[in-house]
Amino acid sequence: MKNITLNSGYSIPILGLGTWKSAPGEVYTAVKEALKMGYRHIDCAPIYGNEKEVGQAITESITEGVVKREELFITTKLWNDKHAPSDLLPALKQSLADLQLEYLDLYLIHWAVAHQPGVVFPEKGSDLVPLSDFPLTATWEAMEKAVDEGLVRSIGVSNFGPKNLGQLLDKARIKPAMNQVELHPYLQQNDLLAFCKEHDIALTAYSPLGSKDRPEMLKSADEPILLDNPVIGEIAKQKNCSPAQILLAWAIARETVVIPKSVNPERMKQNLAAADLQLTQEEMAQLKELDLNRRYVDGSLWAMPGSPYSIAQVFE
Ligand code: A2P
Repeated sequence: MKNITLNSGYSIPILGLGTWKSAPGEVYTAVKEALKMGYRHIDCAPIYGNEKEVGQAITESITEGVVKREELFITTKLWNDKHAPSDLLPALKQSLADLQLEYLDLYLIHWAVAHQPGVVFPEKGSDLVPLSDFPLTATWEAMEKAVDEGLVRSIGVSNFGPKNLGQLLDKARIKPAMNQVELHPYLQQNDLLAFCKEHDIALTAYSPLGSKDRPEMLKSADEPILLDNPVIGEIAKQKNCSPAQILLAWAIARETVVIPKSVNPERMKQNLAAADLQLTQEEMAQLKELDLNRRYVDGSLWAMPGSPYSIAQVFE
């Protein structure tokens, strides 16, 4: 498996297992199977509601000799209601306890959006708080302290655009090592890719398969199904592999880390094997044509009536 070296000096396996939408009852087995078949990178978040099960699977796999802690790369994230610097350490310690880990490989600010402390999901506009109340730079300082304390090896962000990243870059003592964003052929984000490359920030592609199992409230009736795209299907047929594998190989060819979610051992195996699949320049050119600038995770929840954020601001 190829690794990418982060600006922190640590390296991250280019393909990892996503756990968003993995039900608590399924994720334990999925992670155990994944580690057995060779996954070494697991992407988590407390908001996925399954960190305890992921932690149990990791701990048992270490105890059983399947994998050593130092061979693993574990990421988790700070949720939006914990941006106050005084809330960060307790949130991080809760994730560490749930994951049964002494340190994280990567800790990310999940969104450049703040909720009122204690509001897990906003129900009304006033549940969201402007960033002027919880400046990202102050939250970032607390992230840096977590590195100083040895609780986290690398720090970064998720769903950040150039403006929000720029704010951090101006002030940061420790530069963000990662920006985890939605990336796939329908949302190629080439400008963001160029910006991150220029500043030596790695990117992780989430929802790389089009996230068809996300909650109905995050779907629209007319949305294009990425895995059904005929161009992707034709390339897959020619290469004797699956459309999902083409999508993962595409992400890797762009030197982005990629975290497909699956709880199905056959599909997990298939996805892992895609790390060794090469696409030709011609295939990459065909895929480049598919860009629709189409988000599946469109941020509209943070832009509800009365919210201090517009959708454009969420991703700026
Ligand atoms: P499952 O967990 O049953 O395998 P994303 O990573 O973009 O969020 O997509 C996750 C969705 O894609 C889930 O519904 C997952 O289902 C499905 N999936 C994962 N791997 C594959 C694959 N190789 N082929 C088809 N669907 C897949």
